[in-house]
Amino acid sequence: MNLLSNILLNDLRDKKVLLRAGLNTPLDASGAIVDNFRIFAAIPTLEYLISNTKQVVIIAHLGRGREDTLRPVFLELQKHFPSLYFTQMRDLKEAMLEHNLILVENIRQDPREVSSDEQSRSSLAKELAIIMGKDSIFVQDAFSVCHRTHASIISLPKFMPSYAGLLVEEEVKYLRQAMDPPKPSLFVLGGAKFATKEPLIRKFLKIYDRVFIGGAIANEFFKSKGYEVGKSLVHNGSIPHDILYSKQIILPDTVRVADADGHTIYISPDGVTSDMRIVDAVPPSNLLQDINSDIDVRYILWNGPLGYYEGGFSQGTDRLLDMFANSDAQILTGGGDTMATVGAGKHNIFSHISSGGGAMLAFLQDGDLVGLKALA
Ligand code: 3PG
Repeated sequence: MNLLSNILLNDLRDKKVLLRAGLNTPLDASGAIVDNFRIFAAIPTLEYLISNTKQVVIIAHLGRGREDTLRPVFLELQKHFPSLYFTQMRDLKEAMLEHNLILVENIRQDPREVSSDEQSRSSLAKELAIIMGKDSIFVQDAFSVCHRTHASIISLPKFMPSYAGLLVEEEVKYLRQAMDPPKPSLFVLGGAKFATKEPLIRKFLKIYDRVFIGGAIANEFFKSKGYEVGKSLVHNGSIPHDILYSKQIILPDTVRVADADGHTIYISPDGVTSDMRIVDAVPPSNLLQDINSDIDVRYILWNGPLGYYEGGFSQGTDRLLDMFANSDAQILTGGGDTMATVGAGKHNIFSHISSGGGAMLAFLQDGDLVGLKALA
C-alpha cells in the first residue's frame, strides 16, 4: 500500500489531489447531522493536503439513495475550511479553475459509482482522472468504504497514482494490532445475527483469550443451550457445539427482560419465560479480569451494543463503558451501531475508534480490503 505520508513534501507541492473521503454521516429526519465523528476523522488528511498541495478535490458519498445530498456535511466542513466550495460533478471542471478546495456532491448520485459492471465503473473513474489532469494524484482516505467494489474505491487507482491517506494508514495500524493483541485479551461482540459473525468469532477464538457475547447474538446462544427465550429477537439457526461450549466464551449472567406490558426486570438467562422478551444484557462484574492469569485484561476489542439500545435499553452497554473507563486496557472499537451508544464525551475511553463499521469487521476477518489492495 503506497502511503501519502511517504511522499516527500517537495514532491507534493505542485500536485492536484483527488481525495476520496468517508463522510457518510447519520442525519435526522430534518437533515441535521446526528454524529459528526467521520467528519472529524477526515480532517487531519484534509489539513495535511491543504497545507502541502496545490489543489484538493474531495469526493464522498452519503446514504444509499441517488437523491441523498452531501450538503449538510459540506456546511459542517465549511466551518473548519471556510474556503470550501461545493459543486455538482458536472460542474467540477469549471469549479477547479476558480477554487482550490472543492467538495463534489454525493458520488453515488452517479449510478456508475456502485455499478457491478467494471466498464461502467471505469468510465466514471477515467472521467474523474481526466478532469483532474496531469500532475494529479488520488488519495484514498475513506476507510469505511474500502470493503466496497465501487468506482471511487477500486477503479480510480487504475487511472491515477494512488496513495492511502493518513486515516487509512492509522486504521490499518490499529486494526492490525487488534489481530495480534497484547495478552490477556478480550473480544466483546454484541449486535445481532450469529451466522454473519460466525467466521469472525471462530477466528477470534484463536486469537483472543476470552470472547464475551451480548446483544441478540447472546439470545441465539441461550436458545441453542435449550433455554426459553420467549419473545426475544432471535435469528434462525443454532450455534455449533464447539463454539457453544467453548471455555473461552462468556455469556451474560444477567439479562433485562420486558413483559407484555413493557415492565422490565433483571433475571438470570435461564429464568426467561415464554411471555418475556430479552432487551438488554449485563456484563459480568469480573469481565475484565482474566480468570487464568488473575490479572486484568490488557487489550479489549469491542463491537456491537449489548442490548436493544434504539428502544432505550442501553444500561448494559453503559455498564460496559463504565468498566472500560476504569480499566487500564487498550480498547479499540468502531462501527456505527456501537458508536451510537457511546456519547461523544466518552470517546477518550478508547485508544482507537475505527471509522469503519462493515469495513472494520471485514478487515478484522480478512486482514485486508479490496480498496486497500487497489492501492498496491
Ligand atoms: C458506512 O457507512 O459503513 C460506509 O460509508 C459504507 O456505506 P455503505 O454500507 O452504504 O456502502
